[in-house]
Amino acid sequence: MKFTVAIDGPAAAGKGTISRAVARAFGFAHLDTGLLYRATGRKLLETGLQPEEAAKSVTPADLERDGLRTQAVAELASRVATIPEVRAALVAFQRDFAAREGGAVLDGRDIGTVICPDAEVKLFVTASPECRAERRWKELTASGQAADYAGVLDEVRKRDARDTERADAPLRPAKGAHLIDTTEMDIDQAVDAAVAIVRKALETKG
Ligand code: CDP
Repeated sequence: MKFTVAIDGPAAAGKGTISRAVARAFGFAHLDTGLLYRATGRKLLETGLQPEEAAKSVTPADLERDGLRTQAVAELASRVATIPEVRAALVAFQRDFAAREGGAVLDGRDIGTVICPDAEVKLFVTASPECRAERRWKELTASGQAADYAGVLDEVRKRDARDTERADAPLRPAKGAHLIDTTEMDIDQAVDAAVAIVRKALETKG
């Protein structure tokens, strides 16, 4: 069976946790597509390749490497993600993943709009910038990275602006997407809401 769940939204809205939980609940495979852009950004720095070549050279093993989750790499990722040739070079990898047997969850910025517009379920997960900055600040602090809240909020706002204002595949809810605003929800409530939507779609598909 092929069944795709597309989950989009801005940084630190809860996409990652929701995606992993949905994948676990239904036995689907999960791809965090942000890692493709993070790995591309890092390859650029390490190899001096052109952006498109760096994107083409990303392998599944590159997505497993340590150090992709830092603020510096996120910043780099959102810059390379504005380059159309980079985005184009990463399309096939994502579509192949989505088409696998047994179901797939992909999370990112343009999954429901560009990569998988025919996904069985599309979710747009969001929260206020302040709430997202607080969550990201807690995550960073917990993982031992130095961060101050004001700086993280500034980063979140800058990345939101870059992601929503870029010409190629800007961040926006896809047609037919279910909106989940997690500002006033704890993570269990957000996961429950997402799982309920996916379950209903699975039942409908039969
Ligand atoms: O986890 P977080 O939301 O902070 O970052 P991420 O999902 O790993 O994405 C890092 C950056 O990659 C984003 O700010 C986007 O600019 C870019 N990205 C994208 O353009 N398209 C995607 N499908 C996924 C990420």
